[in-house]
Amino acid sequence: MIAEQTNNNLLAPWTKKLLPSPTAELEAKVARMQQEGSKVYRFGLGQPDFPTPAHAKQAAIDAIHNNFTGYTDTAGILSLRQAVVSSLQEQCGVQYEPDEIVVSIGGKHSLFNAINTLLQQDDEVLLPTPYWVSFPEQIKFAGGIPRFVETDASTGYKVTPEMLEQAISPASKLLILNQPNNPSGAVYTREELDGIAQFCIRHNLWVISDEVYSCFVFQEEGFTSIASLPGMKERTIIINAVSKSYSMTGWRIGYSASPAPVAAAMLKLQSHTTSNPASIAQVAALAALQGPQNGIQEMRETYLARREVLVAGVRQLRGLKCLMPDGAFYVWVDASEWLGKTLCGQTIDSMDKLAEVLLTEGNIAIMPGTGFGSGKHVRLSYAISMAEIEEGLIQMGKLLGYKQ
Ligand SMILES: Cc1ncc(COP(=O)(O)O)c(C=O)c1O
Repeated sequence: MIAEQTNNNLLAPWTKKLLPSPTAELEAKVARMQQEGSKVYRFGLGQPDFPTPAHAKQAAIDAIHNNFTGYTDTAGILSLRQAVVSSLQEQCGVQYEPDEIVVSIGGKHSLFNAINTLLQQDDEVLLPTPYWVSFPEQIKFAGGIPRFVETDASTGYKVTPEMLEQAISPASKLLILNQPNNPSGAVYTREELDGIAQFCIRHNLWVISDEVYSCFVFQEEGFTSIASLPGMKERTIIINAVSKSYSMTGWRIGYSASPAPVAAAMLKLQSHTTSNPASIAQVAALAALQGPQNGIQEMRETYLARREVLVAGVRQLRGLKCLMPDGAFYVWVDASEWLGKTLCGQTIDSMDKLAEVLLTEGNIAIMPGTGFGSGKHVRLSYAISMAEIEEGLIQMGKLLGYKQ
């Protein structure tokens, strides 16, 4: 009886506001095709195609044998929080205390804790477009309002202080900055971040800095965290995870670094929702952070080589344009020339349609830009082997054709 009434407002209002995750939907469709025996070129993937480091796996096995299987500190074991402190000091040059670190069930969970801790009903959040798919949904869940700040190729898909000034209102509370960016691969220079930091200080904004791809930066200058700039540590919540850096997406370990009162509030939320992340996964993450780091360098070099091939290949294809991304493992492709054209007898009226035709007619999986806030782009991942990239590009060429 009650189940039949679920359409009649028996569920919480957020259930009507939130969209399902488009990345998860695509992955499920591709998995079905593969199970049925089809070869799929998986440019849609959002996870590294490398194994988790052997020492991290061994640490987890040892943890099980040593019965390290009970509850832990809600914020994560102290040794892991200390390892996060060292890693942030080394990567970002920012000094934190262990009680400013909260370990959670992946970067996504850390973001959820942070957004729900900072926002009050109808607070506005400045969100540069393109954005990672979960940001707007998490903002809406928390009662906030995303204020999209559109970027395009002219600024390398990066926001400037001038663009932010135009978007800000008295209700603005928070800026979410994700760099290296998913989906565009954009990485900010220190100078660019300086301007944004001054804007945030001027308007007394919080900043969530999503740095889950910080290990994969190809620009010469390397990675700068906005938290490392003067006056920013006290207003920034850094989000990171072992998911991408150590190829540990399934282990579900992410973390935040924030001023102690914010960390304490996030901890309160976590203590009544999930408690600690899995004890075994925490030990594996500790081993990953403390063990040899050469795996990261190898992944970065591999991504770099693949990026060159994918970008060169995409630039030859009819109707596609892209910039050279500076980080992460995605290429953000402007496919707007295809809008209104016919492909395999079907009219391309949206990026979703383009993705559907490529998947059904060519077994090529790509992410339409729709979920990332663009009706003109698609995202191609290069977290697949060089052979798959090369074969997939040939396959795309057969469908799309080449530039004259
Ligand atoms: C920008 C960004 N932030 C956060 C996450 C979430 O990472 P995790 O798998 O650790 O939850 C992702 C995953 O794709 C991401 O792309």
